[in-house]
Amino acid sequence: METTARTSSKIVVGAVQRCITRSCGAAYGLTDRVYVCSGCGGPLEIEIVPGPAVEPSEIRERWRLRATSSDVKDRSGVWRFRELLPFDPDVVVTLLEGNTPLYDAPRCAEYCGLAAVRLKHQGCNPTGSFKDTGMTVAVTHARLLGAETAVCASTGNTAASLAAYSARAVLQCAILLPFGQISASKLAQSMDYGATICEIDGNFDDCMRLVLELGDDPSIYVANSVNPFRIEGQKTVAFELMEQCGWRAPNHVVVPGGNLGNSSALGKGFNELLALGLIDRLPKLHVIQAEGSAPFARLFADLKSVGSAWDDGLPEGMASESRPRTLATAIKIGAPVSWKKSLRAVLQSGGEVTAVTEQEIADAKAMVGRDGIGCEPASATTIAGIRRLVANSRIRRDESVIAILTGHVLKDPDYVSNYHRGTLSLAGDEREGRAEQKIVGAFRNRPERIAANKPAILERLKSRKR
Ligand code: F0G
Repeated sequence: METTARTSSKIVVGAVQRCITRSCGAAYGLTDRVYVCSGCGGPLEIEIVPGPAVEPSEIRERWRLRATSSDVKDRSGVWRFRELLPFDPDVVVTLLEGNTPLYDAPRCAEYCGLAAVRLKHQGCNPTGSFKDTGMTVAVTHARLLGAETAVCASTGNTAASLAAYSARAVLQCAILLPFGQISASKLAQSMDYGATICEIDGNFDDCMRLVLELGDDPSIYVANSVNPFRIEGQKTVAFELMEQCGWRAPNHVVVPGGNLGNSSALGKGFNELLALGLIDRLPKLHVIQAEGSAPFARLFADLKSVGSAWDDGLPEGMASESRPRTLATAIKIGAPVSWKKSLRAVLQSGGEVTAVTEQEIADAKAMVGRDGIGCEPASATTIAGIRRLVANSRIRRDESVIAILTGHVLKDPDYVSNYHRGTLSLAGDEREGRAEQKIVGAFRNRPERIAANKPAILERLKSRKR
């Protein structure tokens, strides 16, 4: 595999893994399995070295034509943008990820106090979450490096995705999950795809720590978003989204925040488009966390209170949340690994980081359902967050706003059912002195048992109209 030179593209001529810590900036080749900087421990990202300037219209046309091709690499919504990926092998591990819909959502718009809002549904990926766009690149990379086993820590979706792509690549796969804290549907997917499933007595952050320790073993390939190749795949969502917007950047793009890889990836994607002249401004990137798992939102509030800007340099550390709590289990994370990259992207774009309550997430999720779209709880933080940002005048009613829905509604059917039946609640935490929190859904829609005759059904329909 090439380490730096590329010949297949006129746009990028090379790529390295670069430490983002300004005082370090160490560079590593594309075949070095490092994950974090071995000099200073800082996060790595792929730096692409641009070639001679290419007309934006030429690049757009090339990408547009590929969408109609029958070639496997062209049909993948990730590899279609391969000029901006760090490597371009002949054979890729793909499930034809990406190419997800961008929906209008009028009921969500009204709920948020906006004239319009659009939802980019990453839950329409092959394993039902946005993780697939990163996994196609990471697992292709793992195979090129000859790794024996791909490993990840996960709240469920990364695991399902890695398990599926590893199965495609005939690569051994081990996933570390916090025992009892994963939705049954996500766990079932990983079982079906044949992964070795390790249920760890601990939370996601414990699993993440273990994976980084395992990463020292030369047979192991770490597939979490700390691995910058995952981010490369996920950044293509920014390209696809801008193409769907006719290359006119919206005012705001809003994403949920857990381990903070997705927001880092979108920020990187938008920045690369801006540098190439494919868009003429950055959308404001907003990250939304669940109140009980919101170390990043707290850090952001602290930075704002002292008036920090992104070119002041990034803070050294972030206080983690030792006992994260939320029913949106996908983002139940207390020590997100990619916070520095995400913070840089948010500050560069002029966006915000905010936290929303369990009640807000649950009702926002039901509202996405009412638009006929549906999503998993973590994804609905976006609609809840937009509603807050509008109420606080951070987003104006007439501005263009896109929420990224990260997971499919069927990822967590127990949550959906409990919400509508009125049995959803967040368990108490005795050690923290927190009582159980019951969620009373504003948009409950409970099934009712009805006698097996026509008048009874017509009566039920009439009473619903009243
Ligand atoms: N939404 C969903 C549905 C997720 O599964 C995740 C993360 C996020 C949002 C947050 O994205 O971590 O990039 O900030 N899920 C990971 C997992 C942690 O293991 O599946 P992030």
